[in-house]
Amino acid sequence: MPPYGHLERAKRAGPVGGAPASAHAEALPAPSLDSKEMSFPATRLRRLRRTDTLRGLVRETELSPSHLIQPAFVIAGEDVREEVPSMPGIERFSISHLVAEAAEIVAAGIGALMLFGIPAAKDEAGSGAYDDEGVVQMAVRALKEAHPDLVVMTDVCLCEYTSHGHCGVIRDGGTEVDNDVTVELLAKTAISHALAGADAVAPSDMMDGRIGSIRFQLDEEGHSDVPIIAYSAKYASAFYGPFRDAAESTPQHGDRRGYQMDPANAAEAVREAELDLEEGADMLMVKPALPYLDVVRRVKEATGAPVAAYHVSGEYSMLKAAAANGWIDERAAVVEALTSIRRAGADAIVTYYAKEAAAWLR
Ligand code: PBG
Repeated sequence: MPPYGHLERAKRAGPVGGAPASAHAEALPAPSLDSKEMSFPATRLRRLRRTDTLRGLVRETELSPSHLIQPAFVIAGEDVREEVPSMPGIERFSISHLVAEAAEIVAAGIGALMLFGIPAAKDEAGSGAYDDEGVVQMAVRALKEAHPDLVVMTDVCLCEYTSHGHCGVIRDGGTEVDNDVTVELLAKTAISHALAGADAVAPSDMMDGRIGSIRFQLDEEGHSDVPIIAYSAKYASAFYGPFRDAAESTPQHGDRRGYQMDPANAAEAVREAELDLEEGADMLMVKPALPYLDVVRRVKEATGAPVAAYHVSGEYSMLKAAAANGWIDERAAVVEALTSIRRAGADAIVTYYAKEAAAWLR
């Protein structure tokens, strides 16, 4: 029998899978088996998958430590370092420990650090967020002094600083977050971060118009060179649970669906992204990452702007939990997950795995 006799036989026999034998079928164009026959055996995609070196030549997506951003929690107080129970391997550091941790992040070749603060006290207006002597402001100064080349990005939001845990100020006597009053406080927060030396500010609150207001006020105050990384498409997600433990930012009443996006929407994410660019955003962010890869792709294709994706706490904790149980190969699963986020179109990835993954990627 000729080597590919089965194809010859299949061709004679008609369409694969057997089209319904009706009189009408006679009139239909010939089955497309001819084109298949031409592609195989001449074309065998496995040829370039045979060895690691061959696979390396044709790999479409690159993942390296420089694409990664490490989130870090800085907590008020002296000489504190405490594990976050729901995020194994992640700690909350007081400033001196954070500075030491940053040395490892720099040595690992990681692109940047994204800073979240846990203040000593909270109030209704989240005043710790825009306090020039606040925990983030002091941490930024210490980090930039010790590691001038480290890119320090700051989260701009009120939720870690408000007594009620919402991302903005609650309207008098109500339960809703007041958009425009909050935007003013966010701009104040961003300015105080820039003044402390932050290399970029990242508003994660989802108020309308905050990018324009922050851009305008940063420029007015002489910080026109500080980029804004806009959390353009931040979803009201269940995957933030472990972060809220770490940052003590669980809303005390209600939820965040009045300002964060509905997980069912994607066209709206593109509108958010376009608005943020018009208002002066330098980079866009989609969050969470893996459940929203389609959104990463759509935002990237629609705007062409630099896009980051936030591989959030719940995504991290799920991998850690499965790995701790021996259910997955942690290293392989993490590299696969991060590669997928890059393949979807993300330029940068914010991930709690940054430090570990950087060591694996060497
Ligand atoms: C809000 C903020 C949140 C996260 C980052 N910034 C939580 C929220 O919206 O409740 C979540 C990040 C994560 O889950 O890793 N400032």
